[in-house]
Amino acid sequence: MCGIFAYLNFLTPKKRSEIVDILVQGLQRMEYRGYDSAGIAIDGSNEIESPHSSVALLRKAGKVSVLSDFIKESSSDLDMDMEYNIHCGIAHTRWATHGSPRDVNSHPHRSNDKNEFLVVHNGIITNYREIKEYLEKKGHKFESETDTEVIAKLAQHIHDRYPDFSFRQLVETVIQQLEGAFALAFKSSRFPGQLVASRRGSPLLVGIKSNSRLQTNHFPVSFSKDAGWKWGDEKQTDGRRFMSNHATHLRDETSFVETPNNILDLSIAVRSSNGSAKMEISDSTTAVRPFDSDDWEVEYFVASDAAAIIEHTKQVLFLEDDDVAFVEDGALTIHRISRHADNGEQKREVKLLEMELQEIMKGSFKTYMQKEIFEQPDSVVNTMRGRVLPSGQVVLGGIKEYLPDIKRCRRLIMVACGTSYHSAIACRQILEELSELPVVVELASDFLDRETPIFRDDVCLFISQSGETADTLLALRYCKPRGALTIGVTNTVGSSICRESHCGIHINAGPEIGVASTKAYTSQILSLLMFALTLSDDRISMAKRREEIIDALNDLPELIREVLQLDEKVLDIAKQIYKEKSLLIMGRGLNFATCLEGALKIKELSYMHCEGIMSGELKHGPLAMVDEFLSICMVVCNDRVYKKSLNALQQVVARKGAPIIIADCTVPEGDLAGMKHILRVPKTVDCVQNILTVIPLQLLSYHIAELNGANVDRPRNLAKSVTVE
Ligand code: F6R
Repeated sequence: MCGIFAYLNFLTPKKRSEIVDILVQGLQRMEYRGYDSAGIAIDGSNEIESPHSSVALLRKAGKVSVLSDFIKESSSDLDMDMEYNIHCGIAHTRWATHGSPRDVNSHPHRSNDKNEFLVVHNGIITNYREIKEYLEKKGHKFESETDTEVIAKLAQHIHDRYPDFSFRQLVETVIQQLEGAFALAFKSSRFPGQLVASRRGSPLLVGIKSNSRLQTNHFPVSFSKDAGWKWGDEKQTDGRRFMSNHATHLRDETSFVETPNNILDLSIAVRSSNGSAKMEISDSTTAVRPFDSDDWEVEYFVASDAAAIIEHTKQVLFLEDDDVAFVEDGALTIHRISRHADNGEQKREVKLLEMELQEIMKGSFKTYMQKEIFEQPDSVVNTMRGRVLPSGQVVLGGIKEYLPDIKRCRRLIMVACGTSYHSAIACRQILEELSELPVVVELASDFLDRETPIFRDDVCLFISQSGETADTLLALRYCKPRGALTIGVTNTVGSSICRESHCGIHINAGPEIGVASTKAYTSQILSLLMFALTLSDDRISMAKRREEIIDALNDLPELIREVLQLDEKVLDIAKQIYKEKSLLIMGRGLNFATCLEGALKIKELSYMHCEGIMSGELKHGPLAMVDEFLSICMVVCNDRVYKKSLNALQQVVARKGAPIIIADCTVPEGDLAGMKHILRVPKTVDCVQNILTVIPLQLLSYHIAELNGANVDRPRNLAKSVTVE
């Protein structure tokens, strides 16, 4: 996750220093979205990156404050008092996905050293390798390791070929080549005072501040095939050759239709698929103009999050996927790129935000932890994006090169701490099943204490949200010199574990701000599941099992949404137990990890004693504690250990225990007769079920803590990243 921001003033004179302040402040508001690096592009040259360009590019690895200090240091190169009547600036704060956090990987990315086209990006371009290869063949030189740089270079390439294209046409052409997810804002020295922004799959909104009343017009457009478009032979050939590798879109020609108000637009996209050309048109445009105003002044703010806009204006327009927002001569038009039969809402209304800044940072949620729990339908999509392919293949780019070595190993060892350790426990069984290898799970601290024997044919995975946990990092440093192949599984590109391991899997859950890990845990499970799937991709005997798991992964976001609807019910239960001194959470098999993780969440957030217990161990001790006064929660799923789970339930009930039950929806009512609280989650394949059973416990821990008045985002005595042993 990254934050993008753009600011354009039209006939609202602003000093360069004011423009810089607005851009930097916008980034500060979105810093929670990523803080690996930050950068801005503004008009006017600076000596630092491109002395001869008319756009100054300032970017730095580190937090926004590092960029801000850098700008101050560079201010002698930049005339900060210079006044602009019309100016466009773009800015970015980065959560690294492709390429470590270095200055050169920071956004904005540029098309060449003259800074002709600049872009800021939030998302992932999944076909960037193919585009890069194509552009390199055409002579473009890349300076970063990012996926984003291809966007700027592609804009340059298309501009060089079609110099008559408007800025908007150019961007529309570019984005039709892109696969994956993006929110983008473009600036160009070729088109001063203009701004283009677009999104697909990543959020983006436009704030409008004006001295005049705004007029919004909608122009539904119908179009016939002979309204003046044609194929240029050269373009066609070039486009076809270019497209044959990946996307099949070719932007060919644009016509303009003049409306009575002199606001224009009509876009045509031509798609070439299987050699035959088919025309698609954008069928609606929204334009924002002043209402009968002669001295029109306006400022536009484009951002990934309303948090960056709200202090300037409450008038906003939310962009939808495939909208292209274009500002020229102070007027904003929104165009549609119709990639599919488009049944979506075509009108874009300027809306009034009724929230205050504080609320917006957390959306409608009270705390970051709550926000992160509810983000899980999206974070799991981000983890799987571009990896679980429609063909049924699972591709993990970060370990691809090492896969043959990994498959040849004799033992898999997973090392982690806390929640990350629980994700390893959650996936041990499926890894054993799909890899047919011995799989060992280790707590990093204990692994080091024991000086565990490690061999050259071991593959060791180091799982860590932060990528900086000292125990896990030391365990990695212990294994590497002993010849093991090391894999980092982290949420933080460029972290120590990431850098020091041979290869890695980025879990891509987006920044997690709440100290208690929630969305990172479910994304860790998913990452390890995908790892297990890649290990078995050549085994015919596993094909059916793999297919069943991949189907379940595709349904997962929807099922998580269903589980989240239990929130009210979980709150009611929390109200009944939040004053208790102790809670036991019991389960077995693939759901044992859920018990450990649920218990950890309750301990760390509400300071209540809570234990996760393997229900097979019940009769070996813990059963002695059970009576009518003890709070108990049991996870009972219709899986391979179902009968044994029911036995445990009966043992508890026989001692007058009254457990809260988390059960999948296929567990028969009769088997749970007499239970007061039952939380039903949807049924999915056994090895994915623990993602669904842990969410009610995340919610329960959240509500218990809230009811006890604890600080949910910052529990006492804990830190998000534990960099000491
Ligand atoms: C609990 C929690 C911790 C971390 C542990 C390891 O909610 O977040 O238990 O899981 O400190 O941290 P990482 O995953 O960053 O190595």
